[in-house]
Order: sequence, then structure tokens, then C-alpha cells
Amino acid sequence: MLLRTPARAVGAIVTAVVVSLSACATPERTSAEAALLSRADDAVLGFAPANAALVPGLEPTVYLDDERGVRAEVPTITTARQLTSAMEVLRERGLREAAWAGATSVDISYRVIASGPGTVGLMVVPTWQGESGATTRPALVWYDAGSKRVFSSPALIQASQWAQFTDAVGKAAGRKVNKDRLRAALAEAPAPQGNGPMLGFDARGDLVAQFAPGVLDDKDFVAITVKADIAAPWLSELGKRAALAAQNPSVFDGSPHPAGPITDEAPPVTGADVAVQGDARPSTAVGPDCRTLNCVALTFDDGPGSETAKLVGALATAKAPATFFQLGQMVQANPGVGKQVASAGHEIGSHSFSHPNLAQSDPARLQKEIVDNATVLSAAYGRKPMTFRPPFGAHNKTVDDVVHSTGAAIIKWDVDTLDWRTRDAAATEKAAVHSPDLKPGSIVLMHDIHPSTVAAVPAILAGLQAKGVTLVTVSELSLNGEAGYRAGRAYCHGTFRAASGSFCAG
Ligand code: NI
Repeated sequence: MLLRTPARAVGAIVTAVVVSLSACATPERTSAEAALLSRADDAVLGFAPANAALVPGLEPTVYLDDERGVRAEVPTITTARQLTSAMEVLRERGLREAAWAGATSVDISYRVIASGPGTVGLMVVPTWQGESGATTRPALVWYDAGSKRVFSSPALIQASQWAQFTDAVGKAAGRKVNKDRLRAALAEAPAPQGNGPMLGFDARGDLVAQFAPGVLDDKDFVAITVKADIAAPWLSELGKRAALAAQNPSVFDGSPHPAGPITDEAPPVTGADVAVQGDARPSTAVGPDCRTLNCVALTFDDGPGSETAKLVGALATAKAPATFFQLGQMVQANPGVGKQVASAGHEIGSHSFSHPNLAQSDPARLQKEIVDNATVLSAAYGRKPMTFRPPFGAHNKTVDDVVHSTGAAIIKWDVDTLDWRTRDAAATEKAAVHSPDLKPGSIVLMHDIHPSTVAAVPAILAGLQAKGVTLVTVSELSLNGEAGYRAGRAYCHGTFRAASGSFCAG
């Protein structure tokens, strides 16, 4: 056994390894690009690096926007759709945060830090350059193939043991770390939602809590290590599997762990509960937890066009994400605008090449509009889209099968603003903010080719945010659910509870 039950009292002996990167930071860096790489490479420090070759089906995808200094490389994992979706969500979130910070360049990379039966750990590391220098905000995802679900770091610790765990981290940190800052960080969810630590393991199987630059130290990563035998009783089932996958990496091929799927050990913790309980385990969600938040996804079809840049600006002002279902012919006609949307960190799905009624199209046309269009979008954005919206919402079994072959899920809507018909900003705002159909998990249909729609967006964002709505992308809506989107199936709203939403039935 790699993890031993401690013979001594829990927490009696802890060792501290407080890692300051400046100590090993090294050769002189002369260019901004080299500094970026340095920070990204350093981010794995403290965790055991695993070999990406142990994850067959892992294929890096690269998005480049030379005009805006963007390079974003994250993997597709062909054996794990929900994990791939998490990589996309974190890539987009990193791009959004960089854009909101006024970054002059962005580099996003990834690391495999553990792999084994049914279990894999992947880091996404966004680093951007701004007026105040470089900012790095890594995020870590743990994936369980049995449940096909992604988890953030707190899921490695049993909910009932979180207080003991945080006490041990405090003791391990000793006097080298500001106790108030540490306590505050341990109560937060990890990035991208908060400043909580990424949790993983080193090559000895010891538990490592890694804090991003700016959290405990103004500039550097800080890694605090808790010995394996101290941490063992607090680890969840996922935590135990993750420790083995880090200490002794082996092949992850997408098959479930023989011991069965990981299930939630406790209901998701709401923000109010954290404030009351103080030492409750933070959310185990990756990104916004739409199981507890009132999440809504705004979607914009038929672009990119002449109004799209203005819309991207309005979304940036409100720090809101959106999802764009783009036409291949519009992407080819307006490539610069398309990259502006992608580099701002919004989700991009396919809306066919030229907007025919697919339910009335022959096989050759379906090939061109669905399969070939995925390649058109891949050429522009570095990877095939994971979501597809049929023009007019028209689809049938034949269409669904062709979409399935591209790996995309079919995303419809449950709030129709009818903006294409009214062409009126006030009417569009009213329909988006005050629709009787609007509920947690809703997907709102609009079009970024109409000036009246784009004119309505600032008021729509303000109106929804004033109602307590958390605006998310379509993929964020279902990332943490019991069932994510599946290729070739159709959804009208999020699937964060069971499988409701599929075929627009739930
Ligand atoms: Ni359309």
C-alpha cells in the first residue's frame, strides 16, 4: 500500500515544504516570451509530473491569434468528453480573465499531473502579460471515468474532514506563511472561481496544496506538503485514486475504475452555507457550480458579422461570457471578427455553413453543412466545436446522426427572444430578462447580426445580473451536472440535474 494508516495521532506530525519559486527561478530571462514559459513550467512545481503518453486519446489543440498575441494549447481527450469540455471551459475562462485585465499577450498551456485506472488529473495554466507584469492563474481538473464527471480539488478531501485538513495545512505552513491569508484561501473554491489551492500529490504520494501567485505570496507559487500518512484518513475515494495515479502513473484509457464510479459525498455547498459554517468544504465544481447558482446561457447565432465586435465589447464591460453559434460562410467572410470573439474567451459552436433547413437537406448537403463546417471552424479556431445548433432548430434523426459523427451535442433553447422578428431593442430586452420561460439552466436565443439585438445587450446583461443570474457559456451550464451533454443528442437547457434536458424533455 502506498498510503498507510497513521499509527500516531492525526495531525501530530506534519512536514512543511514551502516552495518559493524565486529560489529556483534561474537563468536571466530576456524576452517576455521566455518569462511566460518559465512561469508556466514552474506551475507544476510540487506535483508529480505524469507523462501525457500514458493518456492515449489525448490530442493537443492549439488556438493562435497573432494579432492579439494569443497562444492557447489544451488537449482534446477522445475517451473523455466531459474532461475535454472542462479543458475548453478553462481555456475560455483564462482568455476572458486575460481580456478583462487588459492583457497584451496570453499563453495557455496544460500539464498532466496524474494518470491511472479511471482517473486523470490535468492542469490548465493561463499566463498573461499586462501593465503590472505577468499573471498566472492555473486551474486543476480531476476526472473520474466511471461517473464521466469532472471535479475541482476539494473533491480529493472528504467533506466531513475538511476542517482537519485545513488545520494540518496551517500547521505544515509554519510561520513562513501569513495565517490570515492562508485561512481565507482555504475557505475559497479553487481557480477559476476563487483563490483556493490546487490539490494534488508529489511522487512520494504526499498531499500538496499549491497556491497561485498573489494568493499567499505576492509573486510566487507556494506549495505546502502534508505527509501521505497524515493525509490518508481524510482523503475521499477520488483522493485515494488520485494519490496512486500521481505516485505511480499508469495508463488512463477512459475505462472506469474497477471499484466503481465516484459519486458526490455531500450536497454542493452554497455561498451562504460557507459563510455560516466557516470550515465547510468549498464547491467541488469546475467553474461556476450551476447546481446551486442561477445560471443562464446567452447565445448569439448567425455571425460573426458587422455588429459582433460591438457585442464583444459590451460583454467585456459586464464581464459576461456568451456562446456564439457561427456560420462557416460568415467565419470565412469575417475571419478577424471571429478571432476577436474566440480570443475574448467566448464559446463558439457550429450553426452550419450556410443556414439551410437541415431536416429538408439531402445527405450531400448534410455532409457539407455539418461535417465539412466542423473543419471550417477547426481551421479558424484550432479545434472542432463541441456544440451544434441547427438553423431554425430544425433537425431529425438523420441530422442527429451526422452531428453525432462530429462529436458535437445539439443545443437548442428554451427562451426565444424573437429578436429577428421584432428588430426592437426594448422588445428584445424584455423578452430576454422578463420571459416567463426564464429559469435556472435556461438557454436564451438571440442573433448578433441585428443592430437592435446588440443595442439591447448592455441592458440585458445588467437586468439579468441584477436578478442574481450567473451568466455562463452553454458548456459551463452542464459541466458539473450528473450528466453532461452527449454527442448527437439535443438539449434546450442545462443538464445539471440528472439527465433532464435531453431531447428538450426535462
Ligand atoms: Ni440561425
